[in-house]
Amino acid sequence: MTEAILLVGGRGTRLRPLTVHTPKPMVPAAGVPFLTHQLARARAAGVEHVVLATSYLAEVFEPYFGDGSDLGLHLEYVTEEEPLGTGGAIRNVASRLHCGPGDPVLVFNGDILTGLDIRALVETHTSSGADVSLHLTKVADPRAFGLVPTDAGGRVTAFLEKPQTPEEIVTDQINAGAYVFDRSVIDTIPAGRPVSVERETFPGLLAEGAHLQGMVDSTYWLDLGTPQAFVRGSADLVLGHAPSPAVPGRRGERLVLDGAEVAPGAKLTGGTAVGAGAVIAEGARVHGSTVLDGAVVGPDAVVRDSLVGAGARIGARTVLEGAVIGDGAVVGEDNELRDGIRVWCGVRLEAGSVRFSSDR
Ligand code: GTP
Repeated sequence: MTEAILLVGGRGTRLRPLTVHTPKPMVPAAGVPFLTHQLARARAAGVEHVVLATSYLAEVFEPYFGDGSDLGLHLEYVTEEEPLGTGGAIRNVASRLHCGPGDPVLVFNGDILTGLDIRALVETHTSSGADVSLHLTKVADPRAFGLVPTDAGGRVTAFLEKPQTPEEIVTDQINAGAYVFDRSVIDTIPAGRPVSVERETFPGLLAEGAHLQGMVDSTYWLDLGTPQAFVRGSADLVLGHAPSPAVPGRRGERLVLDGAEVAPGAKLTGGTAVGAGAVIAEGARVHGSTVLDGAVVGPDAVVRDSLVGAGARIGARTVLEGAVIGDGAVVGEDNELRDGIRVWCGVRLEAGSVRFSSDR
């Protein structure tokens, strides 16, 4: 039985203000904390024991997931006193693993939505005899990513920084944030200090001649690190474009949780998710968006590709497009907020005070 480590301790700075009160893996996507989808997918691949490496807002995970039995899992939680980075976090939970030195251990970043064939990654690892195996995905524009070229047999040949010139784009393969480690390799990561698995552990292993194997799997993959990506990922889960056994309801244009109130003349499309206790008023149109618990979208408001935080209120006729409204914020009527604008938690915008704005 393969065990898994989930890295869920990051501060999620790119996702603010969604991560002001809630760690990124606990922000609801398609009606449940995003982490639920990852845990359910790991369980479906045969994983039974998962150790969560927590740091930022660590206290919220265990009250929600408990011992994991609701998901058919045995969950354990380990909290870092100081954030240890991705590699330090993996090393810090090693004592909780039950497996032997030569056994494979799955490691997942806690913010990746993917259709990765988890069993195939473990099989690739075992059959290639690698020390570490990495899920690689191909991206259309590799300029924003560190690149991971491989040889004809799939063996990793380098870890390259973000390319600065067209000549430096030697591959379109990037690290997709899911790995299989030989247990013994985890024990070689230095303990008790911050370590980046991407910047220190992997390049160091390669330099020492270790065998790092890449497995390119080009199914659905999205890093939910930014608000736009998070909203997209939630909508894709609701629409059924992204696979998860944990979406609470049928796939389709909308997901409305029990206890939400949607007026008969409101229109919900494009994978919109509406949380418990939220209210969507008459004439409102909400497309491809996430409306969290207890939020209110007023009459004739138009909400597109946006996220409305828990308990936030959107006034009548207000237009949100590509906007993120923090928990408890109030956007008065007749405003227009577009193009990546973020409204901080608890902020109040008066009626008609914003016509257009951007954080770009
Ligand atoms: P940004 O601040 O927006 O970059 O997000 P992040 O803090 O989540 O960082 P990043 O996306 O690079 O992290 C990748 C994964 O590692 C995420 O699942 C994080 O939760 C996790 N992670 C990052 N740093 C730490 C850490 O110090 N400790 C633990 N336990 N997990 C971490």
